[in-house]
Amino acid sequence: MTHAEDMARIAEDAKDWRRSIHEQPELLYELHKTAAFVEEKLKGFGVDEIATGIAKTGIVALIKGARGDGPVIGLRADMDALPMDEKTNLPYASKVPGMMHACGHDGHTATLLAAAQYLCQSRDFAGTVALIFQPAEEGGAGARTMIEEGLLERFGIDSVYAMHNKPGLPVGQFATRPGPLMAGGDRFMVTVSGRGGHASAPTMSIDPVVAAAHLIASAQTLVSRFSDPFDQVVVSITYLDAGSSGALNVIPDTAVFGGTIRTMNSDTRAEIEGHLRRMLNAGAEQFGCEAELDWRPGYPVTANDPAKAAVAVGAAAAVAGAENVDDDCDRMMGSEDFSYMLEARPGAIVWYGNGDSAELHNAAYNFNDEAILPGMRYWVELVQRELAA
Ligand code: NI
Repeated sequence: MTHAEDMARIAEDAKDWRRSIHEQPELLYELHKTAAFVEEKLKGFGVDEIATGIAKTGIVALIKGARGDGPVIGLRADMDALPMDEKTNLPYASKVPGMMHACGHDGHTATLLAAAQYLCQSRDFAGTVALIFQPAEEGGAGARTMIEEGLLERFGIDSVYAMHNKPGLPVGQFATRPGPLMAGGDRFMVTVSGRGGHASAPTMSIDPVVAAAHLIASAQTLVSRFSDPFDQVVVSITYLDAGSSGALNVIPDTAVFGGTIRTMNSDTRAEIEGHLRRMLNAGAEQFGCEAELDWRPGYPVTANDPAKAAVAVGAAAAVAGAENVDDDCDRMMGSEDFSYMLEARPGAIVWYGNGDSAELHNAAYNFNDEAILPGMRYWVELVQRELAA
């Protein structure tokens, strides 16, 4: 059997694995069935070492090359699903109400498993492949937890790579870019405190509602007046609560609002909290109120190392042809917790085409099984390039 036939056969098997994972979605760190499935497959392939229970249900497996020593390359797949009902009518649709693989992490897991099986057979590289199967990408910062539990030092990982499927990009095509690719996403809540009273006598009270309205409008100037116009920043106020609809003649004591700030530049991200805090303090004071900011840091900016992005583009072009690789794709204001790994080690994440599917996080979404083969070929090519001896 040629290498190509071998890979195609493994990719066929991996479609079944993907559907098995899809049927039994699990959330955050509670990936007990999924992790058991992955562990059993990896043991069957004959990996050299396997460590389970990292970040509760995360797994790391090592495959050593037959061509001698070399660096350790980390390949990461996320395994978790989303808390939503599936509406695909697929024969292998979720069997768990309120849980669904709507971001294709079932496919990412199957793609990396397929590459693992092939790499265990071929071992045509110098160094070590560390397969990282991660829990809790969707809001749980599973990547950060794995790092905190010693992932990178324990396995001596020198570089890190990841793949995410992309609806709308044809199957077999790839896209990435050097530097920032996805946004940092932070959240915040603001409590504006005044003094309640009768709505007919505003001078007898300190109105937090008018103050909050001004502060919400001011917050948009974080984009227009406090960020570089060439920088991408989004400020969205998504929550607002004050008073009671049953007491429209009462000025309330407090008004609360909150939202999210997305940034594409780590320096901007670091500075914007201070700008917001100053604006809130001064703005509230002009109305005699006080504003308390509860800043909730989220995922950092996902930024590819330029040299590693070039390696990724080279591997993708070898697999798909240069005409099917966009090496300067549009950035996205969504966030991804692989950003924590990219802060700690040089590496790159690439998009791989999911074809004409529903969007990510949509109840009609499904991972495209035809993406497994190009995805696994990319992983194998990347390993051979990074661990070329
Ligand atoms: Ni995802």
